[in-house]
Amino acid sequence: MKPALLGGTPVRTKPYPVHITTGQEEKAAALRVIESGILSDFEGSNNQWFLGGAEVKAFEKEWSSFFGVKYGVSVNSATSGLMAAVGAAGVGPGDEVITVPWTMTATAAAILVNNAVPIFCDIEPDTFCMSPASLESRITSRTKAVIPVHIYGHPAEMDAIMQIAERHSLIVIEDASQSPGMRYKGRLTGTIGHMGVFSLNCHKIIQTGEGGVITTNDDELALKLQLIRNHAEAVIATGMPVKNLINMIGWNYRLNEIEAAIGREQLKKLSDLLRQRRELADYVTQGLKRFDGLITPAIKEGCEHSFYRYPLRLDPMKIKVSAPRIVEALNAEGMDFYAGYLPLNEFPIYQQQVGFGEKGCPFKCPWYGGSPDYSLDLLPNVAHAMNWSLSTEIIRPPLVFEDMDEIIQAFDKVWNNLSLLS
Ligand SMILES: Cc1ncc(COP(=O)(O)O)c(C=O)c1O
Repeated sequence: MKPALLGGTPVRTKPYPVHITTGQEEKAAALRVIESGILSDFEGSNNQWFLGGAEVKAFEKEWSSFFGVKYGVSVNSATSGLMAAVGAAGVGPGDEVITVPWTMTATAAAILVNNAVPIFCDIEPDTFCMSPASLESRITSRTKAVIPVHIYGHPAEMDAIMQIAERHSLIVIEDASQSPGMRYKGRLTGTIGHMGVFSLNCHKIIQTGEGGVITTNDDELALKLQLIRNHAEAVIATGMPVKNLINMIGWNYRLNEIEAAIGREQLKKLSDLLRQRRELADYVTQGLKRFDGLITPAIKEGCEHSFYRYPLRLDPMKIKVSAPRIVEALNAEGMDFYAGYLPLNEFPIYQQQVGFGEKGCPFKCPWYGGSPDYSLDLLPNVAHAMNWSLSTEIIRPPLVFEDMDEIIQAFDKVWNNLSLLS
């Protein structure tokens, strides 16, 4: 059959449904809050409203109990959560924080906002997560923290990362935005490092529209996170006893009561939504295994994959058509795939090293003694993944096995016509 890209009939013509994870329970929860009239119960003062209202407090308690941690600090996005976590870690001008470029922009923006310099290390070729060896090679005397990302929903190599961090006294902030509820060697991602950050935006496995949570077991970090979330400087001025004022500049990162009430219902659905995703993903993997040169998702021993995105790799020794062209052909068949990620080191802000104001901080800050290298040459696995990997978000409910059959059919058509596409 002729591929749709070359004039054939597409496998699928109807659009993919919107990602809806909410139902009657969330509707009732939101209504309960609206009827109460208390849409938020936060105040940026040292008083009974410092930690928010009843729904926020209940959501945080339920979240921390589900994840088996002492604190769940809710925020209005994972972006705010990462910014707060980097701030709570004491990071500032002159410091470097190491992360991966194979992630969403906020992972590194959280470092810049704290006036520190992101340093990018390479990824593992099979899971796309932080390479511990590359992480270690990029540590300098300026390194303060590290942000591994459980990208696509596969856990990063946390044992090795924690050992390296301990040797070099680094704070570890897990970006678990894409992996809530998934385990690494029996432990939930986002609970292994000093802090873990989760996203509840509308694309994620569970959502509150916009929202996030930071988990930690550390009392001091929790207080700093709560302060940064809610006008720290004013709370301290009104009597909160805080000795160390470093980074105690507070934003408004507060979650409102409606979002928190919805979050409580979504948390109850997390395990089932993950089960459905993983069943669909396993089905697709079984169907795609027969295509020569197509490598289905790696799941390392002791790891669970949320399949927030379903990633595939191509073996250039076996097929000569690279990911962008394969994606073009699949999407012509009515699919919804992306080639690679645009790695953050390629963004103009890093290539041109222009940040705050005309002085070029933090890259050219007088306190900063380094000269970061944002070239792809240092990141061979990232460079490879740009051309030889693809991913999709369509392997999720409410889609069903028949929709997965269409994905397999689309690959079948593309693989039967690879010579025409090259
Ligand atoms: C890995 C990762 N980190 C951070 C974020 C930021 O999340 P939010 O939209 O909640 O700010 C996202 C969202 O796409 C993400 O995927």
